[in-house]
Amino acid sequence: MVLDLPRARRKLRGMKDAPQSANPDRGSIDWHARYADGDTPWNHHSAIHALDRVLREWSIPPSRALEMGCGTGTSAIHLARRGFSVTAFDLVPRAIEQATAKATTAGARIDFRAADFRQLAQFGEPFPFLFDGGFYHCVRLGLLPDLLEFLKRVTHPGSLWLSLVGNANDPRPADQGPPRMTAGELCQELEPLFAPVELRETQFRSTESESGPHPLAWSALLRRR
Ligand SMILES: C[S@@+](CC[C@H](N)C(=O)[O-])C[C@H]1O[C@@H](n2cnc3c(N)ncnc32)[C@H](O)[C@@H]1O
Repeated sequence: MVLDLPRARRKLRGMKDAPQSANPDRGSIDWHARYADGDTPWNHHSAIHALDRVLREWSIPPSRALEMGCGTGTSAIHLARRGFSVTAFDLVPRAIEQATAKATTAGARIDFRAADFRQLAQFGEPFPFLFDGGFYHCVRLGLLPDLLEFLKRVTHPGSLWLSLVGNANDPRPADQGPPRMTAGELCQELEPLFAPVELRETQFRSTESESGPHPLAWSALLRRR
């Protein structure tokens, strides 16, 4: 499904409050424990195919790129292989250790940082391209104002951000799979800083042909105002 974004925006302007999708107890995840316990289902739902499709269909050229909440580095390595000069961070040192080892094996040079995004020092120039797979939809639940301030700092007008976000149209129970958002929530929350370029339904999975039940996602391509 691809949304008619101008129409969706007109509709949103007429709404007082966007509907809130159910995300029970998702604001207080212990990320360190999740990696320590190997309780990391997102490692199997990397959605590389969605990243590749957007890079291809929107002819996004290699540039400096920032991956937020990179986990064990699969997407960061993928971007580096496609010629991007990648900086990637995650809160959990264990995840960054695994990401660094994977990048070394892959021969990819990536500037990995193990830190909470709120503690990250300056990166130098803002990034033309941002990516996240499941970082925004988690962090927004407790730290939205900090995240918006961070996003403003690491981008410039015209920067593109591809965010893969849990989709409230997923028919499975809300406590299964990643946190979810409606298209309305997503656009309304980010609209002051980012204009939606394309909002399309996809799934969290690595390849088009991968079988199995996959969480429904939004592929949200946004342009910094
Ligand atoms: C759903 S996981 C996705 C990981 C990775 N993108 C992937 O697809 O494998 C969300 C990631 O965000 C990281 N994260 C959560 N809060 C964070 C914060 N405040 N600062 C930096 N990273 C954070 C977590 O450690 C976790 O690795």
